[in-house]
Amino acid sequence: MLIAANWKMYNGPAATAEFCLGLREQELDGVDVVVCPPFVSLAVAVQLLAGTEIAVAAQNVHWEDEGAFTGEISAPMLLELGVYGAIVGHSERRQHFGETDESVARRAHRALEAGLFVIACVGETEQERERGETEDVLRRQVSVLEADDNLVVAYEPVWAIGTGKTATPEIAQEAHAFVKTLLDVPVLYGGSVKPDNADELLAQQDVDGALVGGASLDLESFTSICRAAPRS
Ligand code: PGA
Repeated sequence: MLIAANWKMYNGPAATAEFCLGLREQELDGVDVVVCPPFVSLAVAVQLLAGTEIAVAAQNVHWEDEGAFTGEISAPMLLELGVYGAIVGHSERRQHFGETDESVARRAHRALEAGLFVIACVGETEQERERGETEDVLRRQVSVLEADDNLVVAYEPVWAIGTGKTATPEIAQEAHAFVKTLLDVPVLYGGSVKPDNADELLAQQDVDGALVGGASLDLESFTSICRAAPRS
């Protein structure tokens, strides 16, 4: 089971340091924990979590190693910092920053090639679900990815992100099972995962972990989600 904290544009270096010092003290044996702070907080997270089993990942990564790409960060830069992985294709990047299946594929491909662990996000919008297009959307988004030992997919229905509207365990299970028919990789669930719904979501057969946004910003709620993960 992998539980990843996606902090989005929250937690600068000072708040990250405080969180990581607290996280170090927790007993979280038997679950793989990843924190994904904003770029400016990666260094302090790597430093304070060194020597623990907790990994640090970025929220995005570019497909070139260097160049005239203002505002972007490359895989070698992340590796130099001691960062373990990166999220790619989060729906907020697709929605607000023009991310496409093609750019997500390029980011994932280069990051994996460089040796980073990758969490690639997929998921349908509310309209797409209502129109019965969920499987088509997932097929399109997943088809650009290639299976890799260092790749996991996060199924994050857009209508469940930050809305408090979690997918039912049945909806999550169905989508995860479908994603696995397309690509043989672990699949995390994301979208309003909270301490009080984590148990039943994580108990589903094809739910291999969670990508947690809002509820990962509070140490206590994040660690209680980590503790809800069935131990393998
Ligand atoms: P949420 O976000 O848990 O706040 O819904 C999940 C995500 O965007 O990864």
